[in-house]
Amino acid sequence: MADEIVIPVDHDIHLVTDEYSDDWNSDTTSIQSSIYRGLIENGRRYQSLKPEEYCFPADERQFETYDAVHLTALIADSDRENPFFQAPIDPKNILDIGTGKGSWAIDVADMFPECKVRGVDLFPPPVSWVPPNCVLEVDDVLQTWTWHEKFDLIHLRIIACAFTPEEIDQLMKRIYDQLEPGGWIEQMEIHPTIFCDDKSIPAGNILLDVGPRFDAAANKSGKPMNLIHTMRSSIEKAGFVDVHEKNARWPIGPWAKDRTLKELGSVNLSHWLTGMEGYTMYLMTKFGDPKPWSADEVHVYNSQIRKELSNPRHHGYQRAKRVWARKPLSG
Ligand SMILES: C[S@@+](CC[C@H](N)C(=O)[O-])C[C@H]1O[C@@H](n2cnc3c(N)ncnc32)[C@H](O)[C@@H]1O
Repeated sequence: MADEIVIPVDHDIHLVTDEYSDDWNSDTTSIQSSIYRGLIENGRRYQSLKPEEYCFPADERQFETYDAVHLTALIADSDRENPFFQAPIDPKNILDIGTGKGSWAIDVADMFPECKVRGVDLFPPPVSWVPPNCVLEVDDVLQTWTWHEKFDLIHLRIIACAFTPEEIDQLMKRIYDQLEPGGWIEQMEIHPTIFCDDKSIPAGNILLDVGPRFDAAANKSGKPMNLIHTMRSSIEKAGFVDVHEKNARWPIGPWAKDRTLKELGSVNLSHWLTGMEGYTMYLMTKFGDPKPWSADEVHVYNSQIRKELSNPRHHGYQRAKRVWARKPLSG
């Protein structure tokens, strides 16, 4: 799955299947405190811990979307014994920043029972059970860090649109300081620009509008989405060395001939179909172009996108990138 290899198409495919969606019953949480209640807007629940808003919802539908991303990322690296991270380390103490539903933290804790895994997020992850070596915490990582221990791996996945460039620099510096000498940072990002190598998505198709539109709205909000292009330099700027990256193409839909990519594309299609509303509603109603959109306009846009995504003749893919790097042993 090298980045530059064109993905061969499965020409025998007749329909788009969505075989995973029925199995994904998301967990429910008893809602007790105001933090659990969050803020409701346009039918979606958002975190209320931080006075400044975070652009993606924290509700069952969004957690279902995060589960789909988690599964997609695992399939992308399913040729590896450890599909969770690439940093060459037998970890003892991990922090997962912006843990979302906590699926990555929980799975890593299961795989490394001797390792303590902390996940932190603005909204309480909706899980009723975690492995004994996993702790999920509610906090704003831009506030003072109170962890006393140093970590040997700090992980971030899809923090796009969450931080201004200055906040990213601040976060990278904190991560650097909170790592043991020789400890690792690993970040994974995806970007919604849809690429197509065989022109099966014709010029002018609305699918080609998604990435630029997200970037424009996110830039207007001051919290860029295109971290896939900047994450490596942010990590290098913080002083990390031994920097590695892995680029991948994630098909959207089960159109690829390769079996792994077909499965990946099938789950990624579910990710898009479940996720479009959550990803767009806040951004477009606050920062849409040329002026903020109404919720109805967002719904109409999303239904057009979902229709086009479900067209099996379209061979679209998006890009994903991992960067991992080490804190020097001294310094
Ligand atoms: C797009 S989600 C990704 C979730 C998870 N990492 C995954 O890959 O499934 C980003 C997460 O970062 C969290 N987040 C955003 N800003 C944060 C902050 N200042 N402190 C802690 N978490 C934050 C959000 O609440 C959200 O759950």
